[in-house]
Amino acid sequence: MIAGYAVPDFVSDFWHFYIAGITIVSVLGIMWFLRAQSTQKKLAPGEKAEIIDHAWDGDLQEFNNPLPRWWLYGFWFLIVFSVVYLVLFPGLGKFAGVLGWSSAGAYDQEKASVDAEFNKVMEPFLAQDVMTVAADPTAKEMGQRLYLTYCMQCHGSNAQGDGKNFPNLADGQWLFGGDATAIQASIAQGRLGEMPANLVGDEQSAKEVANYVLSLGGKPHDAAMAAAGQGKYAACAGCHGEDGKGMAAAGFPDLTDDAWLYGSDEAGITESIVKGRKGGMPAFQDLLGDAKIHLLTAYIWGLGGGK
Ligand code: HEC
Ligand code: HEC
Repeated sequence: MIAGYAVPDFVSDFWHFYIAGITIVSVLGIMWFLRAQSTQKKLAPGEKAEIIDHAWDGDLQEFNNPLPRWWLYGFWFLIVFSVVYLVLFPGLGKFAGVLGWSSAGAYDQEKASVDAEFNKVMEPFLAQDVMTVAADPTAKEMGQRLYLTYCMQCHGSNAQGDGKNFPNLADGQWLFGGDATAIQASIAQGRLGEMPANLVGDEQSAKEVANYVLSLGGKPHDAAMAAAGQGKYAACAGCHGEDGKGMAAAGFPDLTDDAWLYGSDEAGITESIVKGRKGGMPAFQDLLGDAKIHLLTAYIWGLGGGK
């Protein structure tokens, strides 16, 4: 249990007294009401309970009888139950209850016991290097299951990034590097790729630079436009390199290969230049921990693109 969670964080003691006060007054009020309703007027032999002087739905009338016993005792039982509950568990303002139970604590406990179970199976793999783990069929199966749970929604069920804007993890072309260390770092710490917008002014210039980029990759392009864009590409070379091959260590993409996050034709590249791009890969260290990330690293590495 995490101690800090045990007591609700009220901003002022007012709420503690307000909530606890209302709860206690309500319980006492119900007790009073039940007592008031359970005093029975003794009927003389042969006397009938009087009829209360009103009627519903035309002819529906009510005798002035006390509540049935079983029903009344049910209420008293609930009152006793609520008092015992409020002593044991949190409920009365910020009083934490003598058991010290909290939902966050219960969650932590349950997670810890599941993790312990899981780690028994996974920890042996932590001692092996990524290539060995990648070759193990059991590890691969576990890695795939983890992948389908945590990664598929962005990178696609086959890790080929079928959703636009998410990198293919199986093609051997990497933004941040494809050796085990780089893949592990991508998963554990997350990645942020940020390209500023509007580096070359107007859309016409962006189109010219886009054609120059296409020419760097040896792809079909408009030669006159590319020539006009060559000088303006100076604004890009610092990150993507003079030759357009990028810089994997920093996540600056290679613009000459066939791996594209955002679109590889003139329109797509122009849009990247005009609007800028900002791709974010979330960090998984806290959520998954070392053992699961190790299995995932091996799984991704083993998809065929690992270096
Ligand atoms: C919310 C979407 C999202 C989720 C979930 C996600 N990723 Fe990513 N991932 C991305 C994006 C976007 C990038 C590219 C970041 C960039 O553009 O700089 C990326 C990049 C990567 C890279 C680096 C690829 C390269 O070319 O260098 C790896 C490896 C990776 N993700 C693995 C994983 C794994 C394993 C999981 C599951 C634990 C996962 N990702 C979950 C969005 C996601
Ligand atoms: C400050 C560094 C930086 C500069 C300068 C820069 N880029 Fe980028 N560029 C990036 C990063 C980082 C990404 C990846 C964005 C992401 O991961 O979401 C990127 C992405 C791109 C893409 C998309 C690649 C794909 O896979 O879809 C294109 C095209 C591109 N840049 C072209 C250019 C051009 C042309 C210039 C010059 C006008 C330029 N960049 C200037 C850092 C830069």
